[in-house]
Amino acid sequence: MRTDSTFTLWFTGLSGAGKTTLAQALSRTLNDSGRRCAVLDGDVLRRGLNRDLDFSTPGRSENIRRTAEVARLMNDAGLIVVAALISPSRADRAQASAIVGPQRFLEVHVSTPLAVCEAADVKGLYRRARQGDLPLFTGISAPYEAPEAPWLAIDPMRRGLQPAVRELLERIGSTAP
Ligand code: ADX
Repeated sequence: MRTDSTFTLWFTGLSGAGKTTLAQALSRTLNDSGRRCAVLDGDVLRRGLNRDLDFSTPGRSENIRRTAEVARLMNDAGLIVVAALISPSRADRAQASAIVGPQRFLEVHVSTPLAVCEAADVKGLYRRARQGDLPLFTGISAPYEAPEAPWLAIDPMRRGLQPAVRELLERIGSTAP
């Protein structure tokens, strides 16, 4: 079963890039306009469904796989999904696309640069990672593979939150399935 008007926006980017904030703002706007939308957020999922997973390479892969499976079910049920996970591995994102269905998987690179994420360090995790207290931290001691050809790349800090939401809505209006 597939509903043509549903799709998954897959936000990938560093910790602190603004994925969650942008996902929630977009979701609110879509819901306000009568398009049902749900956010799947990495931090939230890791407190429940994915609580058994760590930040090793296999742990992250399984995190992405399960989230993509949930996104697919939600799309099948008629919901637009905004998934916000670091998802640092190109191969894992390709697998997510295959699970969701490539025609309804829209990859968005939330491209706030590392220096900006680290300077803000909202959760204090970059400082801990630099001190060596947080192993395998993305961008510091674990890799981040930026998308080569995302559907959209957007830097919400530079652009501003509402302009970023508007740009996403325009793109959705013109190109989403
Ligand atoms: S992913 O790499 O598996 O996609 P996910 O988006 O679910 O990551 O979770 C990232 C969040 O977990 C970060 O925003 C941060 O709050 C927290 N976190 C804790 N440890 C790490 C780590 N080693 N690397 C990245 N994020 C971490």
